[in-house]
Amino acid sequence: MKVFVTGASGWIGSAAVAELLERGHEVAALARSDASAAAVEAAGARAVRGELTDVEVIRRAAGDADGVVHLGFVHDFTNYEASGRIERAVVEAYGEALAGSDRPLVIASGLAGFGVLGRPIVESDVSGWIGPDAPRGGSEQLALSFAERGIRSVSVRFAPTVHGVGGDHGFMARLADIARSTGVAGYPGDGTNRWPAVNRLDAGRLVALALESAPAGSVVHAVAEEGIPMRRIAELLGAALALPVGPIDEAQLAERFGWLARFVAADLPASSARTRELLGWEPTHPTLAEDIAAGGYGTAARLAG
Ligand SMILES: NC(=O)c1ccc[n+]([C@@H]2O[C@H](COP(=O)([O-])OP(=O)(O)OC[C@H]3O[C@@H](n4cnc5c(N)ncnc54)[C@H](OP(=O)(O)O)[C@@H]3O)[C@@H](O)[C@H]2O)c1
Repeated sequence: MKVFVTGASGWIGSAAVAELLERGHEVAALARSDASAAAVEAAGARAVRGELTDVEVIRRAAGDADGVVHLGFVHDFTNYEASGRIERAVVEAYGEALAGSDRPLVIASGLAGFGVLGRPIVESDVSGWIGPDAPRGGSEQLALSFAERGIRSVSVRFAPTVHGVGGDHGFMARLADIARSTGVAGYPGDGTNRWPAVNRLDAGRLVALALESAPAGSVVHAVAEEGIPMRRIAELLGAALALPVGPIDEAQLAERFGWLARFVAADLPASSARTRELLGWEPTHPTLAEDIAAGGYGTAARLAG
């Protein structure tokens, strides 16, 4: 399949592109800079120069492709509303480019936005992030609605820790940075709230499987570990970085974690049972604990050096 990919130079996108190419697909990748174009070309893709705000470029590239994988996102958490507007405009462009084609559109999403369920989030749970003013521009619901317009749209909800060794700059990397800069691996409150986790390479494979065969309007969960208590994550980081571990009061969360505070205290256990059954996906790569122990988020030796 000829696949148009955004975010191909990113943490998850680079894993997804490697997987797509290995499975025999051709990849055209949006690249906003010389560095990103060089990275995607070195990986074996063709660069399509443009920004996520270049909606015309995106519409044309999507229309020329047999399928679309949308992993690009402007991760400016200080202006999340603007990021959401850009996201929605891009997804609207896919809707126009792909309507009536039955072609696949795989978009990235997350596991926030479900409130407190008292049980793991499952694929059939509907996100409360609906409409243009919602976080991420309500893009998941918009994309899923395209199933009624002849588009095989699929949402991949990634665990908040898509982890690996070398190059992560997401939530886990931020937690590690904060631990290093404050000298304490902190966890919110009693540390019982949970984050699910998935290895970047397992996430990349799930993206490819979703593109190839997930049904129209489906949601899949890139979740290998259902929920790891934040206290355990802090202990793992503390051990790797040789730092003390301790609780952070609710009143101190914003000061300690900055923009991450809105996610760090969230309890987000999530199941991927339906995803595994639907696509035959089984995670095989290292766990979060294994990646932290392998130095994926820094080591005491590196700190000392
Ligand atoms: N990683 C996680 O733990 C996680 C968890 C939940 C959801 N997600 C979602 O999964 C998706 C992929 O995440 P990721 O971790 O792979 O993100 P990432 O490493 O930050 O990569 C973002 C990608 O988007 C591209 N991009 C950013 N701004 C752009 C712009 N203005 N124009 C064109 N391209 C632009 C980047 O290109 P450059 O290389 O040029 O910067 C990069 O390829 C995102 O939607 C993210 O929100 C990720």
